[in-house]
Order: sequence, then C-alpha cells, then structure tokens
Amino acid sequence: MSNDAILKIKDKEYSLPMIVGSEGETAVDARKLRNQSGCITYDEGYGNTGSCQSDVTYIDGEQGILRYRGYPIDQLALDSDFVETAFLIIYGDLPTSEERAVFAKSLNENASVHARMLHLFEGYPRDAHPMAILSAMVNSLGCYDPHLATNDHKRDLENFSEAAAIAISKVRTIAAVSYRMSQGLPIIYPKIELPYCDNFLHMMFSDPYREYLATPEVSRALNLLLLLHADHEQNCSTSTVRMVASSGANLFASTAAGICALWGPLHGGANMAVIQMLESIHAEGDDGSRFIEAAKSGTGGKRLMGFGHRVYKNFDPRAKIIGKACEELLDSLGIEDPCLDIARHLESAALKDDYFIERKLYPNVDFYSGIVMRAIGIPLNMFTVMFAIGRMPGWIANWKEVASNPKGKIYRPRQIYTGPVKRDYVSMEKR
Ligand code: SDX
Repeated sequence: MSNDAILKIKDKEYSLPMIVGSEGETAVDARKLRNQSGCITYDEGYGNTGSCQSDVTYIDGEQGILRYRGYPIDQLALDSDFVETAFLIIYGDLPTSEERAVFAKSLNENASVHARMLHLFEGYPRDAHPMAILSAMVNSLGCYDPHLATNDHKRDLENFSEAAAIAISKVRTIAAVSYRMSQGLPIIYPKIELPYCDNFLHMMFSDPYREYLATPEVSRALNLLLLLHADHEQNCSTSTVRMVASSGANLFASTAAGICALWGPLHGGANMAVIQMLESIHAEGDDGSRFIEAAKSGTGGKRLMGFGHRVYKNFDPRAKIIGKACEELLDSLGIEDPCLDIARHLESAALKDDYFIERKLYPNVDFYSGIVMRAIGIPLNMFTVMFAIGRMPGWIANWKEVASNPKGKIYRPRQIYTGPVKRDYVSMEKR
C-alpha cells in the first residue's frame, strides 16, 4: 500500500509522495505536480505551503510549542541567554564552555563598525527611521569585508563563522550608533569586556563622563527579550532571507532584506503598534473595553495589535514568558506603567470574548515586549530594531541552510495570470 497522496484532476489521478518531518508533520510533495498534470498548487500567503525543510526551529501552533534545535523555549528562557542561544541556533548544539568563550570573544572583537562607515550615518536626516538605516548598514557590512560577501556561497561558507559574528555583533552597534546620532549625542564605543546585552546598553546610554551600568534585572530582561525573538521558522522576514539567499546572495544582503520585511506593522512593526495602541487607549481614558469593540467591528481599521498569529492558534509561548518577565522587571525598577494595566485588561477581556475565541486570537510575542523595552529605556522607534537584533541568529542559520544545500534551487514561485488575454497593438491614431 503506497503512502503517496492521490490527487484526482478531472478524470486523471496523480500519485504524489509524502514528506514526513522529525516531529511527524506531513506534506504532499508537489515538486513534480506541474510536470505530471500541468497544474500548480495555489496558496496565497503560503499559509498551507512548506517552502523548505529546516533543522532549526519547530513550532506546533495548536499546542503552543516552540523549540530551537529541539530545546523548548521555556527551558532556554529559564536557563540560557542570548549569546548561548544564538550559538545553538546557528551551529545546531548548545556550546561547550570553550565554544561559548570562543564565540563570545568573536562577538566582542567584532563589535566596532569601520570608521568610514560612521560617515554613512551622517548622510541620514536626524528623524530617519532606524530600520531604514539598519537595513542599509547591514547590507553595507559586506563592503568593508568583501571576502565575506563574494556572492559565491562556497567561498562565503568558508568564512561563515567570521561573517556570522560580524552580523550578530555589529547589528547591535549599528542600532546604538543610529540612536546616538539621531539624538545628536557622541558615539559611545563598545567595551570589549562587557557581555553582549550590557555592551549594547552601554553604547546606547553611557555618556563620555558617566558610564551606564545595566542592573542585573535589566540585563536579564534584555537577554530574555532577544532570546525569545531569536528564530521562528518560516515567518515573513526569515522566508525573505531564504528567498534572497537562494539567488546566491551573501549573508549581509540576505539579512538586510529580512530587516526590510520585518519592518512591516503586521510583522516586526507590531511591537511599536502595540505601545501606540495602549497609549491611545490610555489617553482616551478607555480601559480597553471600547477599543476591543472597535477592533471586533473593524471600524477605523482598528486591530488589537499584538494579538493573533498565523501559526499559533492556542497561545504564543513567548507571550506568556514575556508577560511574566514584564511584571518582574517593572517591579524591580519600581515602575508603574498604565500600559501594562491596560494590556492585562485587554488580554483578559479578549480571552473571554467570542470574537477572539472563534478566530483563535491570543497575545503574541509583541503584546508585552514593548512594555519591557520601554521600561529599559529603548525609544519607541527602535522597538522593531530590537526585534531585528534578536532575530539575526535565526536569519543567519536559515541563510546557512540555503547556502549549504548542494541541490539548492533559486526560489521562484509560480502564479495564476488573471490579466488581459492576447490582444494586438493599437496605433495611437486608433486609440
Ligand atoms: C509576528 O509569522 C511569525 O512567526 C511572526 C512572528 C515571528 O516571531 O516572526 O511571530 C512575529 O509578526 C507576530 C504577529 C505580529 N502582528 C500583530 O500583532 C498584528 C496584529 N495581528 C494580525 O494582523 C494578524 O493576526 C496576523 C497578521 C498576525 C496574522 O494574520 P492572518 O493569519 O493572515 O489572519 P487574518 O489577518 O486572515 O485574520 C483572520 C481573522 C480576520 O477576521 P475575519 O475576516 O475572519 O472576520 O481574524 C481577524 C481578522 O480580521 N484578526 C484580528 C486580528 N488578527 C486577526 N481581529 C482583530 N485584531 C487582530 N489582531
């Protein structure tokens, strides 16, 4: 008895093999369908289409499961940190203490940006969005280390570890430099002895005459935030990275494209939109009840930002973890943020509301992350930049999977044409 799927089109049957993943997920392998039947599959938004087989992250949306290389997110959140998780996602296993030390050293040694790159920042208007700057600067990293960005995957893979360290380390420095320049503040250079997150906060908030020292609670909260964003299988931005990588493009060009995709309000831009939503609810003296009714009716294009997810139809495990960390951080800092009270009210009201229950809409990773970032002092227009810093390891791991695939093909989806059928050219006089 064959395990193949049988597809009947008109009076013909086609046998299509099945693919089964390590967690038992199944897919109909449609790679030969068009050659056999002349038909393609159609799945706008790719909600039911697998673009690749990947070893990096596993999500079960119904069970609210998220695992990086098999390790459950709640265990990593409890016991790991961003640098260790980045190593796990990129290299496939938790590092030994020696491996971790070498990796952390490579990040510290690659923290500064090239002096000439600093001139590029000066060309931007002071109110330029930091995501526009980030994508341009990450793409430009290849210009200062052209041996890492040859667009020959075989050669680029020979220097992969150096390129990965540069991308992870410098994305953080670029973010801090763009913030300092937007504020007219002097650049604060990285300190080689500081751990990853503490170094970022130092570059953001220190002054020439007073060093910013992150408290253990703030450092822990930022590590957790970045760790929880580190990868998420084939989301919009990661699929973009794979799409660009599939043409043979280098790591910096591919991850820069991912930054552009992440910027959209339906994806990484949602964390900013959540805070803007909470602040407007607060400003209107609403406890959230009126807003929820508006979001349900769709009036004024209102959506409950930070709610809903293409994959999670039960709960986003990251939202639960961030929600708890948010309370702990604000308690440790003695911050009373009305947005947190409104967020809590929105969550409890929505979880009891048929509109959200029927559509399986629950808080996602963005619902509480903005409140944490605001408590740390990250400016609103940098919230999506923080998401990009966190997601860099996932983008790098996915770029590597594409670059390392000897049978890799360029990503080139098909389409169904719905435009005008054949017609002859009409001269100007006859139009
Ligand atoms: C991220 O893919 C990933 O993994 C992304 C991410 C990652 O780590 O990379 O998890 C990060 O991007 C999280 C999502 C952040 N975005 C938001 O919080 C924006 C608000 N949420 C939505 O716009 C929406 O839920 C999406 C974009 C997240 C998912 O959209 P889908 O799966 O395409 O669902 P849909 O837009 O087709 O909505 C289905 C129904 C619709 O109602 P009906 O037309 O059936 O009546 O649910 C409604 C929608 O109107 N709906 C919402 C809603 N989200 C969906 N109604 C009110 N508020 C919302 N937030």
